Amino acid sequence: MAENARLRVIRTMLRLAWQADRTAAVLAFVLAGLLAITQSSYGLWLKFIVDGIHTGNPSRLGVGAVGGVISIAATLAIAYGGQRAQSRLRDHTRYLMNAQILNLVSAAPTLELHESPQHLNELSAFQREGYQLSQVLPRMVELCAVAVQIVTTAVLMVLVDPLLLALPLFAAPSLLVSFKTSRIFRDSGRRAAEPARLAEHLVELTATPGGAKEVRLFRLQAEMLRRFQQAHHQIRRFNGQAQLQAAGWSLAGRLVFIAGYVASIAFVVRQVTIGEATIGEAALIAVLAGQVLGLVSGSSEVLQLTIRSLVAADRFVRLQDLFGHATQRGHRPVPQRLEHGISLRNVSYQYDGAARPALANIDVDLPAGLTIAIVGENGAGKSTLVKLLAGLYSPTNGTITIDGVDLASVDLTRWQDRVSAAFQDHARFELLVRETVALGDLENADTDLKVLGALERAAATDVLSALPRGLDTQLGSGRPAGVDLSGGQWQKLAIARAMMRPGPALLLLDEPSAALDPETEHRLFEAWTQVAHDLRERVGSITVLVSHRFSTVRMANSIIVLQHGTIAEHGSHEDLLHKNGLYAELFNLQASAYR
Ligand SMILES: Nc1ncnc2c1ncn2[C@@H]1O[C@H](COP(=O)(O)OP(=O)(O)OP(=O)(O)O)[C@@H](O)[C@H]1O
Ligand SMILES: [Mg+2]
Repeated sequence: MAENARLRVIRTMLRLAWQADRTAAVLAFVLAGLLAITQSSYGLWLKFIVDGIHTGNPSRLGVGAVGGVISIAATLAIAYGGQRAQSRLRDHTRYLMNAQILNLVSAAPTLELHESPQHLNELSAFQREGYQLSQVLPRMVELCAVAVQIVTTAVLMVLVDPLLLALPLFAAPSLLVSFKTSRIFRDSGRRAAEPARLAEHLVELTATPGGAKEVRLFRLQAEMLRRFQQAHHQIRRFNGQAQLQAAGWSLAGRLVFIAGYVASIAFVVRQVTIGEATIGEAALIAVLAGQVLGLVSGSSEVLQLTIRSLVAADRFVRLQDLFGHATQRGHRPVPQRLEHGISLRNVSYQYDGAARPALANIDVDLPAGLTIAIVGENGAGKSTLVKLLAGLYSPTNGTITIDGVDLASVDLTRWQDRVSAAFQDHARFELLVRETVALGDLENADTDLKVLGALERAAATDVLSALPRGLDTQLGSGRPAGVDLSGGQWQKLAIARAMMRPGPALLLLDEPSAALDPETEHRLFEAWTQVAHDLRERVGSITVLVSHRFSTVRMANSIIVLQHGTIAEHGSHEDLLHKNGLYAELFNLQASAYR
């Protein structure tokens, strides 16, 4: 990390701490500094006591004794308060950071960042590094405390004899060694990461329902355990080697310091014998010199840990930049009522890192009020087109216009408010059934009637009757009293969610058939045709349906046949049959299979 970036990260973290809990932030820093001062004052009080006894001066002795008692009591109180302030600060900052990221990530209207492998890595690393991140501020506090302690110790030493400042030089090897040992541990950690990931994967495999089935069926318990133990054996070996190496290095470093320690004690004793120092000062130095080693190795450790947590914080700052940038969009309003429809001109889309475009040179009009079906084989680009229409991706090339207004110039979130969709890879919200459906339109979800209406329009009321507590059923087998649904039932709820918005300008149904039986899909589409008819009059809604079932597809007003990311054919069912091209071939193939 460059110096600039590091400063920026520190500033951001401090600002965050201030926003999260300013009382705790101030207290944490101030108390840590005070603690450092009280701790380094012990030697001073000892000096007073020893000198008091030696010179038979009761007031000196008294000052030392009272000062010592006060210092000890203060240390206890300050340490307790400081810890409370730190943990409060840590919790509040971490919460604020996560809230900011959650907010930023979901505020970005498009999905590009979610799907770019680089950004996904950043995001998951951010989540993994949660602990490091929560340590940034405590470590900054610790670093401050160490700095205060170094200054106080140095001042006290200079007061006795400036020559004593040479002592830290003897501690330098210990400092260097601690950098070396941390490198040793980092390397071993890196080598152990692979077996650790494997061990984690094995546990996950046996614990998740999918893996558990196969583990039982193929009698894999012993094999899994053997691999798990092997991985752990490897991790232990790496760790053991690192510990041995590190122990050797730190022993060497400490031996050098001990030599310096003995030399400085000898020096002070000599000063005492020639009358240049008091016995109390000798005691003070004995205490301070003992603290120096702790301080030096402590500060190097704190420094390294701080740097590590700053790397995590740097990621946080970059994520903020990344997603913050993605939320800046156009501001033109979206037409209230579709008069003409949606037009795609020369639209192409290429996924980040993909070798070739998923969609290329798409030119098509989706007239207001019509139902349009998209067909094509797997990977033809159907879902990509659907997501482009929803404004979840921006075309890499070309323009999408809504009644002549370029989608790139409108406030995408406004457009998305007018779109409703059931996606092929729909979400499974593990909430109450009522809530799962109502999420489709939180603003208008005030009565069960609306939720029931949406279920009706989604031909999904049969899901309800199969559930123990109807709308109040908790979904998700992992939740208390939760029930799991079949793939088709989850999909029906997703469609019901899409039916919640009262007047969407665009309704996208991406393969509602994927998990539904043909009859249900047919019923759903008939039900929706009815609704679409009403909506057409009111807001000129367009319905886009992706399906592999031609019995449903043929009901659409117009059909787009996609092939390798381009439009192969386009027209009504009759037109396309008449044309006797790809559509006719696919249609006849399916029809003959059912015959
Ligand atoms: N997130 C993604 N990142 C990279 N490539 C993708 C991504 N999603 C889809 N693709 C690629 O884009 C092409 C079109 O995918 P798309 O999902 O649009 O196909 P589809 O027609 O919906 O297929 P299916 O019938 O299987 O749902 C495919 O070649 C696919 O591999
Ligand atoms: Mg698809």
